[in-house]
Amino acid sequence: MQLFYPVKHISEITMIQDPKRYTITAALPYTNGPVHIGHLAGVYVPADIYARYQRLQGKDVLFICGSDEHGVPITLKAKKEGVSPQQVVDKYHAMIKTSFEQFGISFDNYSRTSAKIHHDTASEFFKKLYDDGKFTEEVTEQLYDEEAQQFLADRFVIGTCPKCGYEESYGDQCENCGTSHNATDLINPKSAISGSTPVTKKTKHWFLPLDQYEPWLKEWIIEGHKKDWKTNVYGQCKSWIDDGLRPRAVTRDLDWGIPVPVEGADGKVLYVWFDAPIGYISATKEWADQYQKDWEPYWKDEGTKLLHFIGKDNIVFHCIIFPSMLKAEGSYVLPDNVPANEFLNLEGNKISTSKNWAVWLHEYLEEFPDQQDVLRYTLTANAPETKDNDFTWSDFQARNNSELVAIFGNFINRVAVLTHKYYDGVVPTPNALSEVDQITLKELQTYPEVIASSIERYRFREAQAELMNVARLGNKYLADEEPWKTIKSDEERTQTVMYIAMQIATALAILSEPFLPHTSDKLKRILRIDSLQDPELDWGKITETHQLIPEGHEIAKSELLFARIEDVQMQAQRDKLVASKKENEENNSTLEPIKDMIQFEDFTKLDLRVGTILEAEKMPKTKKLMVLKVDTGIDVRTIVSGIAESFSAEEIIGRKVTVLVNLAPRALRGVESEGMILMTEKADGNLVFVNPDDEGIENGSTIN
Ligand code: MF3
Ligand code: ZN
Repeated sequence: MQLFYPVKHISEITMIQDPKRYTITAALPYTNGPVHIGHLAGVYVPADIYARYQRLQGKDVLFICGSDEHGVPITLKAKKEGVSPQQVVDKYHAMIKTSFEQFGISFDNYSRTSAKIHHDTASEFFKKLYDDGKFTEEVTEQLYDEEAQQFLADRFVIGTCPKCGYEESYGDQCENCGTSHNATDLINPKSAISGSTPVTKKTKHWFLPLDQYEPWLKEWIIEGHKKDWKTNVYGQCKSWIDDGLRPRAVTRDLDWGIPVPVEGADGKVLYVWFDAPIGYISATKEWADQYQKDWEPYWKDEGTKLLHFIGKDNIVFHCIIFPSMLKAEGSYVLPDNVPANEFLNLEGNKISTSKNWAVWLHEYLEEFPDQQDVLRYTLTANAPETKDNDFTWSDFQARNNSELVAIFGNFINRVAVLTHKYYDGVVPTPNALSEVDQITLKELQTYPEVIASSIERYRFREAQAELMNVARLGNKYLADEEPWKTIKSDEERTQTVMYIAMQIATALAILSEPFLPHTSDKLKRILRIDSLQDPELDWGKITETHQLIPEGHEIAKSELLFARIEDVQMQAQRDKLVASKKENEENNSTLEPIKDMIQFEDFTKLDLRVGTILEAEKMPKTKKLMVLKVDTGIDVRTIVSGIAESFSAEEIIGRKVTVLVNLAPRALRGVESEGMILMTEKADGNLVFVNPDDEGIENGSTIN
């Protein structure tokens, strides 16, 4: 006797202790833009599959998330759009929340860090650590942008990563190698606000002395979680700990965030990565208040399994910094696991918000209404679980047309249509079971455990592939038993076959729920599962009995579970990406078109000379203008130049420059300017002098 599909995983099932409850968190997205497929694939779909699955097991599950509304990305976005940070977060909080709801991400609470409960919770947390003497207080030199009159930390500063040499590392983290560092570690730092080179200035901050937590982290992670944490997560943690941990500032000199709740901290707020993870706790409190529950067991009871679903760029914060904060506080449980994913690329390129290289969820929902599950399915089938992966529209189309439509949808459609055709929609009574029937039912019974085992080990692609094997089992059974033929010859046999097919369809309705919640709902409506009023009909029942849906039960009218996706739709999506790439290239190129042709005589009319700046002074009450005294070799003259945003007076005195000396004088703000200094502009908007500043070029030399 041979099973149709060999069952692989049964022997590998790891024993899972039985937690009393699950606190499942999904990274709080920054509200500086909408969410895209990368977010969904990396964090929210896997977290949702896990949460839904545990709920189906009857577990006490709290699944929480919310908007991360502080931090520099939001301030930068507000500056760019010319609105207030609050307006930015209000806009994107609403958009993100709706997108998650539409995709069926089943949070018990989706909160936000601008909520009062969060400000209170984070302040109290800080205060407790402060009162317990867990912070060190230090006056240190921090980067300061003199033009913007602002301290620069985190994403306000860009420079070369001290670890990997990537030239566009942020102040707190390098996106290239993932290292987290302090802004002062950057080589060649530049302000992201003004582009200028920052100076350093003294300021007081509070630090979490991570170095003191090193021995404990070694024991907890390196020794304690070598086996059960994903290798990518464990590997990153180990390398950080091996490199040696340093105290980490948990406050910032900024005006957007949670004010530091101690004396002598005016103008300072909590570091966003200090407040944001506490957002998980405040979201729990908010939920508990709403449903009159006790929040504390979800964070403090030893029987709670705390899990953080995140993307790989968040590993250090969730495995090292936040646990150290929880440990310092003293009364919290620590994460049992941090199943971080790698990144999802799009059509071969890194997803990028700023380059608009993304599939935005709110746009997808408009273009593919009612097809949320197709995206969920594709993203899980291709999830970046162990390495970066690529999303392509052709894969999306193939997954839909050849898997969801051709396998899952086709099976359900055949079962429903034939049941209506032969039995007026009533589940027939089975007769004696053949060997094939028994094998089929037996195989069906193995799936709940197989799928569960994969989910418990955070292998969602594998789990979903097994779910599809249930649909394949159904299709193969129908194809082999051919009820459309036996109906003419063997009434009894047909009844049995349709009865068994109906059981497989019912199992699919239950097992698909974590992965394809909208489809599962639809299928349950077709099968009228609700009207059975069978509280026992759940994941476990599939393994226990053959009869999930009883004979005599009447199902509803059949409807199609999935619709085909056509080539033109995919082409439209690809065109959209090409268009955004083109637009990007155009925006990035500041090259101006070539002016009308001139003759050599026209050029020789310009008298260009080399000169030296002798004096420079910013013109009062203007932003850009500077009054210069320039030695042209012929004379010393006054030139007013619009360079004050790119240079300070000190740095240009003594510089050689190119001067147009025969330009008719012009008065600028009452000062007569006798000539023009040639400048050009860099991509970041900064001006530079047009001049080969070589030694030995005499003032007055002509340029031709
Ligand atoms: N906003 C962060 C990001 O998008 C994630 C914050 S997770 C939390 O990378 F733990 F801080 F909440
Ligand atoms: Zn780096």
